[in-house]
Amino acid sequence: MAKDKNLFVCQSCGAAYPKWQGRCDACGEWNTLTEETPVQRGPGPAAKAGGGRRVEFVGLKGHSAPPPRIPTGIAELDRVLGGGLVAASAILVGGDPGIGKSTILLQAAARVASAGRRVLYVSGEEAVEQVRLRAARLGLTDSPMALAAATSLRDIIASLEQESDAALVVIDSIQTVWLDALDSAPGTVAQVRACAAELIRLAKARGFAIVLVGHVTKEGTLAGPRVLEHMVDATLYFEGDRGHQFRILRAVKNRFGATDEIGVFEMTGTGLVEVANPSALFLAERRGNVSGSAVFAGIEGTRPVLVEVQALLSPSSGGSPRRQVVGWDSGRLSMLMAVLESRCGLSLGQNDVYLNIAGGLRIAEPAADLAVAAALVSAATDRPTDPDRVYFGEVGLSGEVRQVAQAEARLREAAKLGFGRATLPRRVARGGKAPSAPDGIALTETGHMADLVAVFAEQTVKPRRAGA
Ligand code: TYD
Ligand code: MG
Repeated sequence: MAKDKNLFVCQSCGAAYPKWQGRCDACGEWNTLTEETPVQRGPGPAAKAGGGRRVEFVGLKGHSAPPPRIPTGIAELDRVLGGGLVAASAILVGGDPGIGKSTILLQAAARVASAGRRVLYVSGEEAVEQVRLRAARLGLTDSPMALAAATSLRDIIASLEQESDAALVVIDSIQTVWLDALDSAPGTVAQVRACAAELIRLAKARGFAIVLVGHVTKEGTLAGPRVLEHMVDATLYFEGDRGHQFRILRAVKNRFGATDEIGVFEMTGTGLVEVANPSALFLAERRGNVSGSAVFAGIEGTRPVLVEVQALLSPSSGGSPRRQVVGWDSGRLSMLMAVLESRCGLSLGQNDVYLNIAGGLRIAEPAADLAVAAALVSAATDRPTDPDRVYFGEVGLSGEVRQVAQAEARLREAAKLGFGRATLPRRVARGGKAPSAPDGIALTETGHMADLVAVFAEQTVKPRRAGA
């Protein structure tokens, strides 16, 4: 019988090739291919040969109860999960090393255990002593949760099989777990995939929730296993930068709840603390009366969040100008700048442009266009935006300002935080009902970006154009 041929598997996306090559054709990454022995998978040719059992097809109607949930006791985490951990489900928690994954999971695990459920925490990265020290620092040592340091999948599975009433199992991290039957090193796609599949299978069979911690590479993908995202029921990412104290937990996939829901935490000396009012936190360091700053009234999941958008223009020192974006899409910035130049006659051309979403939040909503535009125009004209005003609205290629969802929720949040004015798209009556606005907030409806630019135009100080 022919020996199984080894495959070369991309550690970034999981694509497999018969021969080594420098670049993965599937995801375009360089030097990500490593040699692996293929894993036996699927039912194989036997399934084709008959002998299967007839599956039963049913109608769409019928009663199914919502899945039982285990609240973690951390409201922000429960919100992101869609109301707590679902029994017999698998959750992947991803994020950069040092962002706080182990901290939040230890806090959650301890609370679930304190509520009377059996919780097992398997640490593959830190020794028992290290985890105990952290628990002491977090004041969790009274919690009855069970802790072990292990990395061998065989040992972990054998131990879990002895547990009859486990409610939650945390594996920190999946990249350290390995199966000796596989030749590949721990952390490779083959290992991570095989170990995760085995753990998830056991979780489904035994009815406990399993949380897998996964590190993210600097490119922003889970090291090796994008494949993991398909295997789990929910994927949560921990965002934020280690220089800031804010941490944002975001659901990017959730079979049992809404995605794009965020939980906001603050890293303190005693662990991660929930932030109930993120807008106040994101705006806390805002300084009035500086140009290039505008407040965006955004929506994250079901929750309105106000953030400060900061723009800085500086004359480019030759060559092609820099465009540096933190927390937003750089393609979208280029588009906005093109619209400002060709539709509104603002010249930004030879300047380096820096854009930053303050506080470490990453914004994906097109509704931020108007706030970004306001920050850019303010920076270009060196005139501060009205400090009492929030902005939201999507901008189209002809410079038109388009409607965005949930205008009222955005306005309510702005009013709640003491803002008195808002610049927003023209609103239309829906279903014969005129759009309403919260008391105390004056609305400036804007149909075109040129109107926004005109507000700043009076004292226009055109930025110096290098080489012009
Ligand atoms: P950790 O949870 O170990 O990160 P991860 O598991 O994602 O790699 O977080 C470690 C960081 O958090 C570390 O830089 C120290 C900081 N930290 C605090 O600031 N306060 C605390 O109470 C704890 C436990 C950690
Ligand atoms: Mg950790």
